Amino acid sequence: MTTTPPDRVAGWEAHFAAGRGFRRPDDRELRLLAEHAHPSPGHQALDIGCGLGGYAAALADLGYRTLAVDWAEASVAAVRDRYAGLAPGLTVRRLDFEDACAVAEHLPAGTFDLVTMRLVLAFLTDRKAVGERVRRLLAPGGVWLVTTPLTDRLPERRRNIGMTADDITDLVTPWSHCSAYDLEPDGLHCLALRP
Ligand SMILES: C[S@@+](CC[C@H](N)C(=O)[O-])C[C@H]1O[C@@H](n2cnc3c(N)ncnc32)[C@H](O)[C@@H]1O
Repeated sequence: MTTTPPDRVAGWEAHFAAGRGFRRPDDRELRLLAEHAHPSPGHQALDIGCGLGGYAAALADLGYRTLAVDWAEASVAAVRDRYAGLAPGLTVRRLDFEDACAVAEHLPAGTFDLVTMRLVLAFLTDRKAVGERVRRLLAPGGVWLVTTPLTDRLPERRRNIGMTADDITDLVTPWSHCSAYDLEPDGLHCLALRP
């Protein structure tokens, strides 16, 4: 198994250590999540790059057996601490989703009915490989829900947290079905992708 180089994750660990969080999902975003969630008993969700775990907790509340993963130790500790009451419906583990071997070792293929990535994909380096990895993890009929800021709606100094129109085209192309939503005129873009 490969390990994550410490310098890559250090910025995120520092973010958590400073007590900083992330933009929380608003009602409109949570409504959109609920519209794409059709959990039956035993259905499983995977939240990749879970941060402080609010979105993963929403998935567990909707009825999914939810696994939250993040490569930062501080994230995993925070989610364990904040959402202990949701176990075993919500579990969390440390995982670098760009580490193909670790993903193959720890996440069973064809398992997850809903995979979510909120405010994460823009930070990942090989998005094509990430998409292929997600596809392998989806159960039949599964959906990948990606929520991201769009670069051209961000101020210059924050453009690194967004995806460009070309990035979105590259992301969507390999998927058979894509529904796209704008959550606010100048806000987040959400894509529901199906193989
Ligand atoms: C902007 S935060 C979003 C957190 C959460 N999804 C939310 O919406 O509040 C990005 C998260 O992705 C995680 N992350 C970044 N690269 C990752 C990787 N390669 N594998 C797993 N998690 C990663 C970071 O540690 C961080 O928690």
